[in-house]
Amino acid sequence: MKIRLSLLCLILLSFLADCSSENETPKKEPPPPPAVTVPFPEAMYVQNGCVSCHGTLGNGRGTRTQLLGNSRIPNFQDKSTYIYGSSKEAIAKSIKNGVPGTYMKAYSHMRKTEIDAVAEYIQKMQK
Ligand code: HEC
Repeated sequence: MKIRLSLLCLILLSFLADCSSENETPKKEPPPPPAVTVPFPEAMYVQNGCVSCHGTLGNGRGTRTQLLGNSRIPNFQDKSTYIYGSSKEAIAKSIKNGVPGTYMKAYSHMRKTEIDAVAEYIQKMQK
């Protein structure tokens, strides 16, 4: 009998608990932060394939470099090997327009902020 009574209480209590939680105003979750596009230069250097030709260190030793035949490939670490200029602006221009007639294609589909970020990333490789 005792057990039954406590069982009944338990059931009643759980009903009560249910009711009270129903009446509680639901906790409002904070809204998700607004989406922003922050160019992450290193990721873009990899995702756009730059790394495969120019190499992780920018020294022109990437996984595809040997497939480029006799192409000249700059060493981003050594300013004297840039033909089109080693300033951030010049690098950005090379990325945007590419080098016609070479394996260096135009990355005109990239946003200016992205190109600038990658250009800065390349500039940081310079010694
Ligand atoms: C398929 C291989 C390949 C890929 C992919 C590639 N490049 Fe190049 N890149 C080259 C070659 C080859 C040259 C040299 C072109 C020439 O003969 O003038 C070059 C030249 C450049 C130059 C000009 C350097 C100079 O001499 O002034 C810059 C800057 C550059 N690449 C950046 C990039 C960036 C950034 C990416 C990715 C968004 C990229 N490249 C993707 C092969 C590649």
